[in-house]
Amino acid sequence: MLKIREINIDKALLLAPMEDVTGIAFRRICKELGADIVFTEFVNSDGLIRDNEKTKKKMEITENERPVGIQIYGGNLEPMIEAARISERMNPDIIDINAGCWVKKIAKRGAGAGLLKDPEFMEKMVSEIVKVVEKPVTVKTRIGWDSNSIMIEEIAQRVEDAGAEALTIHCRTREMGHKGDPQWEWIAKVKEKITIPVILNGGLFTPEDVRDAFEQTGADGVMIARGAIGNPWLFREAKEILEKGSVLSPVSIEDRIKTTLLHLKYEIEEKGERRGTIPFRKYYSGYLKGLHNASGVRSQLMQFVEYEPIEELLLEYLTYLQNYEPIAI
Ligand SMILES: Cc1cc2nc3c(=O)[nH]c(=O)nc-3n(C[C@H](O)[C@H](O)[C@H](O)COP(=O)(O)O)c2cc1C
Repeated sequence: MLKIREINIDKALLLAPMEDVTGIAFRRICKELGADIVFTEFVNSDGLIRDNEKTKKKMEITENERPVGIQIYGGNLEPMIEAARISERMNPDIIDINAGCWVKKIAKRGAGAGLLKDPEFMEKMVSEIVKVVEKPVTVKTRIGWDSNSIMIEEIAQRVEDAGAEALTIHCRTREMGHKGDPQWEWIAKVKEKITIPVILNGGLFTPEDVRDAFEQTGADGVMIARGAIGNPWLFREAKEILEKGSVLSPVSIEDRIKTTLLHLKYEIEEKGERRGTIPFRKYYSGYLKGLHNASGVRSQLMQFVEYEPIEELLLEYLTYLQNYEPIAI
């Protein structure tokens, strides 16, 4: 059971924070398809205290996506405390501290996974932030820096002692980046040590992965990252497998085209036509993956900077797909 104050969800499905992906539009799509809790991308504490408008924009949230968490990161105490205060003013349901980002320029400054190099400081950072904000504070981290320094049990204890109200574990080391098999077995070990909810992250790409993760580890929630890009239906399908034992409504061609258009509409609502359509191009390959003649359609879609021609092309493509019959050989 994932219990963070008034949030109370059995087998919770969370959308992971992802830079340049989990903006308002994508969070809304995932929410509509069954995500229980969603997170903003990480927000740089140094940028926030410089009053950088672009950084602040990343913290904007809307009512229809609650419960929603804002994630902050940084390697210095004072800016992180200030960033937590600023985040709180945006009125999120959760303030999450990133202690897992593996990117070199971030980790080497002691931020993200860099905090794993100094567990005492990580504990201090969490406890000082907990002291200054009313909202629940959570932490997202990794199992350790590398295979010789797996220390998630110690980290978990420290994070709980510091007053965090949930812990997400990306079950890889910093050295692994995003590759290699996640070591889910650490979840059960950590659950024996601490009482706050433990959320599993890493390697969830199918509804069966989600079911297995809950069954094998007893996690209170699971957090999906790459598995949701181009496939937000994973939340709906995972919910079905958990509640009914199998996926009853697998994603249809119509789902794919209509969700692509809806997601694009949300992006445009938020950012305007041009700034909505151009970055959206990264989603086409996922949404159209495996469909007949998708690459031809994709390259046409890449040329448009307005909604209307995209809608026209995709609806035409939908009709084509619905009438398409592969020739039997
Ligand atoms: C494009 C991208 C951006 C990411 N940005 C963040 C981020 O802002 N904050 C964070 O905690 N993790 C970030 N991550 C890591 C994911 O949240 C997650 O921990 C990781 O991808 C492992 O989960 P997965 O195997 O389900 O992809 C990012 C991952 C990707 C692929």
